[in-house]
Amino acid sequence: MPTTAVRVSGLTKRFGEVQALAGIDFEIPEGTIFGLLGPNGAGKTTAVRILATVHKPDAGSAEVLGYDVVKDPNEVRMRIGLAGQYAAVDPNLTGRENLRLMGRLAQVEPSYIPPRADELLRSFDLVDAGDRPVRTYSGGMRRRLDVAASLVQKPPVLFLDEPTTGLDLQSRQALWNTIRTLVHEGTTVILTTQYLEEADQLADDLVVIDHGKIIAQGTAGELKRNLGGTVIELTMGEDTDVDRAISLVGAVTGSEPERQGALLRMPSPDGSHLLTQMLRRLDDEGVQPTAVALREPSLDEALTTPVKSLDTALTYAAAQNYLDERSRAMKRIERGGTMTMDVEPKKLPIALVNRYLEIKRTGRL
Ligand SMILES: Nc1ncnc2c1ncn2[C@@H]1O[C@H](COP(=O)(O)OP(=O)(O)OP(=O)(O)O)[C@@H](O)[C@H]1O
Ligand SMILES: [Mg+2]
Repeated sequence: MPTTAVRVSGLTKRFGEVQALAGIDFEIPEGTIFGLLGPNGAGKTTAVRILATVHKPDAGSAEVLGYDVVKDPNEVRMRIGLAGQYAAVDPNLTGRENLRLMGRLAQVEPSYIPPRADELLRSFDLVDAGDRPVRTYSGGMRRRLDVAASLVQKPPVLFLDEPTTGLDLQSRQALWNTIRTLVHEGTTVILTTQYLEEADQLADDLVVIDHGKIIAQGTAGELKRNLGGTVIELTMGEDTDVDRAISLVGAVTGSEPERQGALLRMPSPDGSHLLTQMLRRLDDEGVQPTAVALREPSLDEALTTPVKSLDTALTYAAAQNYLDERSRAMKRIERGGTMTMDVEPKKLPIALVNRYLEIKRTGRL
């Protein structure tokens, strides 16, 4: 039986009018990576801050390694590291000085501090910059130092709030590897991110939070499979020969889609893979649906326009992804290239969720 590192039950938190957390529950086994995913304002940082004893919850409870965050905050603090969303390092100190200061603040045995600081500078690729004031660092270097600073005391439980936001791909991958090494050595990591890809790379389990509520929960694989159990809907334009569209679609799926006026509907056991193939086939033949939807099968088929739920958002995301891809393909043709689309079918669900998060973030389709 794995021991539980973090247990959260019915956690709620309100800031004035804003219900930042509306009752969330999860458990994190020791030695695993847990992803907290969600758009801006979802409540990720609030959850992390409550677990790290920065905020008190209004209701519900949270425990870290068996210690209640409200009743035993000091016990919790001794066992956690926190790399917040905003860099907490002192810009006027050098990287090395910052790490040593963190060590002293965390009451690490003094003789351990200098070698630990050196080790961290090495593993975060900051050796050359180690003796420069942090104000001269690039954003990515600061971010790396910030994560390094949370590791001086080798905490058994580590909170990383959007650790890779603003990092380039190389630094991001380097940080992922560092996180994997820590977990291999027994650390439990709680990571917030806006990128499902990141959670997919790292997290054993994840929850997607939106408006302070958990809207999806499971392993990345489970989440993707859930997103795959979908219905495809294609709406044809007025001047499209719908019968021809039906036969083209039927040739891809092996059976005729259900027709409702200009709307074609069919189940898609493999999620967006089939949709991608279908759109390619239609596009090759010059048939362009006016709307594309990929959604959970539902008795209530009313298509509400506001982006309210994950599946409605995914509908838009699927359509938008396709349109983006298509316009990129058209641009390539204009430059004399060939008509191929870059959508990698297996990766599409991830792209959709990222797209969903982006829609939520920007409020734009
Ligand atoms: N100290 C605070 N005072 C007032 N409102 C707050 C405070 N902290 C958070 N909020 C509000 O609570 C909600 C959740 O914020 P939170 O920072 O937890 O979101 P998040 O998921 O971390 O978002 P982001 O991706 O932008 O970091 C937001 O509406 C935010 O404005
Ligand atoms: Mg945040």
